[in-house]
Amino acid sequence: MANQTPLYSALVQHHRLGRSAFHTPGHSGKEISFLAGLLQLDVTELPDTDSLFEAEHVILQAEQHAAQVFGTTRTLFSAGGCTLCIQAMLRLVSADSSKKTIVTDRILHRSAVNAMALLDLNPVWLLPRADAGSGFPGRIHPDDVEAFLKQYQDAAAVYITSPDYFGVLADIKKISEVCRRYQVPLLVDNAHGSHLFLMPENLHPIHLGADMTACSAHKTLPVLTGGAFLNIVSDTYVHNAKDAMALFGSTSPSYPIMASLDLCMRWAETKGKAAYSQLQKRVLKIKELAVEKGIVIPTGATDPVRITLQTASLGITGEEAAEIFRTYLVEPEYADDGNLVLIATPFHTEQDFLRVEKAIQALPNKRPVTLNAVLPPLPNSVMSVRQAVFSPWEEINLEDSIGRIAATTACPCPPGIPVVMPGEMITEEIAMFLKKYRFLTIKVVK
Ligand SMILES: Cc1ncc(COP(=O)(O)O)c(C=O)c1O
Repeated sequence: MANQTPLYSALVQHHRLGRSAFHTPGHSGKEISFLAGLLQLDVTELPDTDSLFEAEHVILQAEQHAAQVFGTTRTLFSAGGCTLCIQAMLRLVSADSSKKTIVTDRILHRSAVNAMALLDLNPVWLLPRADAGSGFPGRIHPDDVEAFLKQYQDAAAVYITSPDYFGVLADIKKISEVCRRYQVPLLVDNAHGSHLFLMPENLHPIHLGADMTACSAHKTLPVLTGGAFLNIVSDTYVHNAKDAMALFGSTSPSYPIMASLDLCMRWAETKGKAAYSQLQKRVLKIKELAVEKGIVIPTGATDPVRITLQTASLGITGEEAAEIFRTYLVEPEYADDGNLVLIATPFHTEQDFLRVEKAIQALPNKRPVTLNAVLPPLPNSVMSVRQAVFSPWEEINLEDSIGRIAATTACPCPPGIPVVMPGEMITEEIAMFLKKYRFLTIKVVK
């Protein structure tokens, strides 16, 4: 092999491009002094370094400090990302084996679908109302949660993703009131919103009434990739929380990642609020510039520091816009057929923001494309998620898939709402819809 270090070389080469990193991790690629030097702290469980899943002293103390900063009953560290927190949350609410139904939004991340397969849980799907503008999935409405809780009286939990990838926030306060009335715990996948407690107005779902949240700290906060928090408010779940995490987690969690979570909490406590208040103002200017240019952004309650640009309103795809951003030395977080997403953090410099502004100004103004896909009706679920995920599968052409059972999720973006989930029957409308989005094949149960 010519290059004996293909991955390492690619990373070094990418680093040399000198792009402003508007993507995860939330330290934004900056050599933040408090994160430098963590490599030498890459140790293992020793008498004086504690053990994540049996935390008794220093890890427990670090977690207790984090709980104080977040205002929770218990906060647990994860070095296995938000995925591990999601697995643990779902495990905790499914301890009662007679309750297998999870009332959940259809825009959920695949880590949750996989966890439901592993735990043999049955999702029932809430659809968002398209109230954030066309081309965005929208928000789960509290009235819809209530209707589902009336219908599914054996629900083990309500599980909502907020904010979504575009920064759109559900009304967690109202949803949590509904959940409390029906005595069903509210779990929030807050992967993209770990920083929300630092906004001038505390927008963190734990503050707004969620029982548990999975927070992918590394996405928006100065934490090494893989660092996340499981936040718990209800006493009910505290006792078994470590065991629930240990069920899925590696027995060798990274100490540098855990140390970065610990350092992040000190940063949050001492500097976080001031830093986010300033960031919010800077991002607002960028959003105003985008709107002036004619770019659509999500409407209603949103994460004030997430930059989502619906480039379709300029007649270009998000991917095309991303290429233009790269020529201005900006690497975005995400691009699809109609949108571009940037993650801004307090660690970006004025030079980084100026690059973003120049890139926005450089986008061409073509004929706007409206993104108002009408989704096919939800298909029937004919097999449990678990059965579908663990069955033998084959990949077949879409034309041949009608009447077959999906073994995987198919989710065209935009709008980012899966049209079929594992265990659901593929209809003609679904196959046609996916074809329009340039899907050619799909994995189905054999
Ligand atoms: C909404 C959402 N939930 C969960 C996850 C999983 O987070 P992690 O990569 O920290 O495991 C992601 C990752 O992209 C996500 O976007």
